Amino acid sequence: MIYATRRATFNAAHRLYNPVLSEEENYKIFGKCSNPNWHGHNYVLEVVVAGDIDPATGYLIDLKILRDIIEEHVISHVDHKNLNIETEFLRNKIPTAENITIGIWNQLVNRIPKGKLYSVKLCETENNYFEYKGETI
Ligand code: NI
Repeated sequence: MIYATRRATFNAAHRLYNPVLSEEENYKIFGKCSNPNWHGHNYVLEVVVAGDIDPATGYLIDLKILRDIIEEHVISHVDHKNLNIETEFLRNKIPTAENITIGIWNQLVNRIPKGKLYSVKLCETENNYFEYKGETI
């Protein structure tokens, strides 16, 4: 088994806010991340595909194809967007890095033509990142 990683970056605005709670309760849970006037991040995404090498090409997966799939099904939905308002795959979700990571996994999992999706890692800040491998506890 070999693992191929494709990295992509995007920037986006969001607000951490649960609409069933009051402004005050939201502020208590999310602090300045619940600022009603939004804030943004420069996200770094790493998509890992695992599988065997195709002897005809020597590739696990053509990374140009993986790049184009990530662009079409993820980046075009999030880059320079407001994740609360504009991103269909996050509809009715609080756009935490956790939910964005799982949303990205769901966008990609059935679209990988060679090997299989192994993990999605999303860095929201220099110090925080989340990783999803499609498993539940
Ligand atoms: Ni944030």
